[in-house]
Amino acid sequence: MGTERITIFDTTLRDGEQSPGCSMNLDEKLQMAKQLDALGVDVIEAGFPVASDDDFAAVQAIAHACRRPVIAALCRTVPHDIQRAWEALQEAAHPRIHTFLATSDIHLEYKLKKTRAEALQMIRDGVGLAKSLCQDVEFSAEDATRSDWTYLVEVFTVAIAAGATVLNVPDTVGYTIPDEYGKLIRHLREHVPGIDGVTISVHCHNDLGLAVANSLAAVSAGARQVECTVNGIGERAGNAALEEVVMGLSVRQDVMPFTTGVNHEAIYRASQTLANITGQEVQPNKAIVGRNAFAHESGIHQHGMLSHHTTYEIMTPASVGVRNTHLVLGKHSGRHALAKRFEELGYPLGRTELDKAYKLFTKLSDQKKEIFDEDLLAIVRDGLTHIPETFKLRAIQATAGTAMFATGLVTLASDGGEVTETALGDGPVNAVFAAMDKLTGLKGRLLDFKIHSVTGGADAVGEVFVQVEFDGVTQSGKGASTDIVEASARAYLNAANKVLFAKRAPAPAVVEARS
Ligand code: KIV
Ligand code: ZN
Repeated sequence: MGTERITIFDTTLRDGEQSPGCSMNLDEKLQMAKQLDALGVDVIEAGFPVASDDDFAAVQAIAHACRRPVIAALCRTVPHDIQRAWEALQEAAHPRIHTFLATSDIHLEYKLKKTRAEALQMIRDGVGLAKSLCQDVEFSAEDATRSDWTYLVEVFTVAIAAGATVLNVPDTVGYTIPDEYGKLIRHLREHVPGIDGVTISVHCHNDLGLAVANSLAAVSAGARQVECTVNGIGERAGNAALEEVVMGLSVRQDVMPFTTGVNHEAIYRASQTLANITGQEVQPNKAIVGRNAFAHESGIHQHGMLSHHTTYEIMTPASVGVRNTHLVLGKHSGRHALAKRFEELGYPLGRTELDKAYKLFTKLSDQKKEIFDEDLLAIVRDGLTHIPETFKLRAIQATAGTAMFATGLVTLASDGGEVTETALGDGPVNAVFAAMDKLTGLKGRLLDFKIHSVTGGADAVGEVFVQVEFDGVTQSGKGASTDIVEASARAYLNAANKVLFAKRAPAPAVVEARS
């Protein structure tokens, strides 16, 4: 059986990042891009350079750091956009300009206020300009699935003639269904001259919950590139989930004889990294990467699984990198065991990182009898971040109750020494945040606060994610501790330190403590 290769085009850092609550700063995008590189995706769409200086910088940095995959930058079909995308891609080993224009009558009339003929000219000019700069040019006909099929044939014919190497047929509003989408792909293959010489790509949104089904139907009909995102994040209901597309193709080789370059065992780690960066947890019943994706609750299922795992399992958790949560280390485990376990989890630590991790580990093992993989992952994620800390948390104390205001007392250390502040609040977390504002000199407005326990049990580590606006700048922060008020304080301070670092402000002089 032939196994044709499907190109996996990841747009987590562009379409995914556009969705509410998923914005990432430069360091976070770079961290995610490296994870995608390790995952083995073929194309990383790194951003939309004309949209903002931050997007531009992210594309530049990712192009510099990730040498194996193709790095794509998005742009409209207008010259300034295209030039900006190309500038951002200068350092890429394998650059791609991805240019798009809407082609449905709805978009042409209400959004672009262009005629079909004007749009064709814009595509001709835009793709032509992109091609004069870059060999690899992708053209997307936005809202293709609501475009007139005859017009779409004209659109793609023009795009090929102008030099496009990849033609993308987006289901921008998640409107199509598998059978119809497959027919559209076949129609284009039959009617667009020269289409055999280019790659047909699909890009599906999930408004009807059909993004993955539509993508797979398109592959069966002849598409050879699938655009998708980790955990399916993206505009509105999201994009096709990478892990579902890849594992769908892998598990159903019998009816879809295709391969991808994705390293399946790195899927879970990529999913967790993204969830951790954005603070958007994966829904428990999410296919492939959800907490319950491999859990068997009912007695009948458990009995079947004990007899033979294939009774209720179409793929093993290990095949996508999900390990059993098991007790790994305890108070008396040494540095060597810790280093080995981190390595097994995919985090080979350097000497300095290991020293820091070991310190955090011993502190944690004083608070917690059993240490699980998740605890160790929380240490890498929250304890080993490289944001220089203008302020370090030295101590907190909080009181709360039903009949009183909550109070928070915080001691921070900076180059100027240690200071302590107190504040009142609606609750202990709020009071601690207010005390920290007094000390850092920043005024924070909490936009998002999430907490989850990384393992079970009363002594579990709580991980807190916050999104805070400090004087017009929004920043996220994370913190972990067995004490949730402390975890919250660490997350808040992490966000504040990022803002202070970004401002490159000299360490503010310690504010005199007021009692
Ligand atoms: O959904 C869409 O149409 C897009 C294009 C820019 C490819 O994201
Ligand atoms: Zn999209």
